[in-house]
Amino acid sequence: MKVLVIGSGAREHALCRSLSLDPDVTALHCAPGNAGIAEVAELHQVDALDGAAVSALAARLGADLVVVGPEAPLVAGVADAVRDAGIPVFGPSKEAAQLEGSKAFAKDVMAGAGVPTARSYVCTTPDEAADALDAFGAPYVVKDDGLAAGKGVVVTDDIEAAKAHAGACKQVVIEEYLDGPEVSLFAVTDGVTVLPLQPAQDFKRALDGDAGPNTGGMGAYSPLPWADPKLVDEVTQSVLQPTVDELRRRGTPFSGLLYAGLAITSRGVRVIEFNARFGDPETQVVLARLKTPLAGVLMAAATGDLADLEPLRWSDDAAVTVVVASHNYPGTPRTGDPITGLDEIAAQDAPHAYVLHAGTKREGDATVSAGGRVLSVTATGEDLTEARDRAYRAVARIRLDGFQHRTDIAAEAAEAARTA
Ligand code: AMP
Ligand code: GLY
Repeated sequence: MKVLVIGSGAREHALCRSLSLDPDVTALHCAPGNAGIAEVAELHQVDALDGAAVSALAARLGADLVVVGPEAPLVAGVADAVRDAGIPVFGPSKEAAQLEGSKAFAKDVMAGAGVPTARSYVCTTPDEAADALDAFGAPYVVKDDGLAAGKGVVVTDDIEAAKAHAGACKQVVIEEYLDGPEVSLFAVTDGVTVLPLQPAQDFKRALDGDAGPNTGGMGAYSPLPWADPKLVDEVTQSVLQPTVDELRRRGTPFSGLLYAGLAITSRGVRVIEFNARFGDPETQVVLARLKTPLAGVLMAAATGDLADLEPLRWSDDAAVTVVVASHNYPGTPRTGDPITGLDEIAAQDAPHAYVLHAGTKREGDATVSAGGRVLSVTATGEDLTEARDRAYRAVARIRLDGFQHRTDIAAEAAEAARTA
């Protein structure tokens, strides 16, 4: 099978790494890719938001399957263009991707599907926003309605900050604050059948102890030793399947990766958000544990054959990923700094720990930073403690001026599992 992956983040590197290990994959291409992906796939230049260009590239390469990684091309209709060209594609249509592209649309689908989520108001004027903030009280949750790469959400006790964020957005969703740990649960779906993956936890805030601003995600781990073993089944029944059924009923079937961001509250599971693609950095830990070869799973979703797929096989290992970010991320990051130490990780920590690139590029012989999240170090181990130790040992070898990372990824869960 010839596969073309669209995107250039650590998520796409994780997808390409798994696909490169799949014996069914005879050729692996990625566009536009990054310096790390170049080691496992052939890179091509393309405007990832241009559906005609992506489908032309896929046709030229004779791709049997196109996997669209990020949300922006999906929301721009890139999967539709590829599908219209007769090439199987993993990723939802433009209309179905509105589940991520518009928070207001997602709320409407959840209401129709009877899926539990935070109560909310959609507001377009400062007066409406002030009333909604008043109705819910602190802590205030204010979400930009459009795509914002995980950075459009402000959660604060400060009413002025909440109003300021609402005022800066064209349309906002203001909602009730959900208390409790967060879980990311992904499902592969062909629009009818829903195949849940293993749950992971993401760390959204920039700084240790969940302080600082929201980011795209600073680290993740899987499995969740503290979670109810029935969680995946419950969420499949109460959230994932009803959402897929509702989208099909509306004439906008969703095929691809449905990502449920959940809060486990004292009153039960609630959806915080849906995404229409694999999460980053959760994909790094989920795929690290998936033993079933990936290409066949994605192809079955693309062709409507998921019901015939054998149950997924998972490793009992734990996986931890730590994101290495540029100076000043999630603000405007500093880029162009050389990154060294990656060869030492390959020589001394592989295969248990490895680097997945995000914002990197080659400059002559050097690898330099080229974005906010620069790379993520993923490690596996018998338990979270071992996976964490291996991940942080590898992170300690990296040299990149001014870089930042959290030091507490999976720490609490590892400690709880150790003392249980
Ligand atoms: P979102 O982009 O909707 O996932 O929001 C980003 C992050 O903001 C989430 O992962 C949560 O940590 C936080 N957040 C979003 N909505 C809520 C809510 N209703 N209650 C509490 N925290 C929230
Ligand atoms: N890790 C959060 C996201 O992918 O949106």
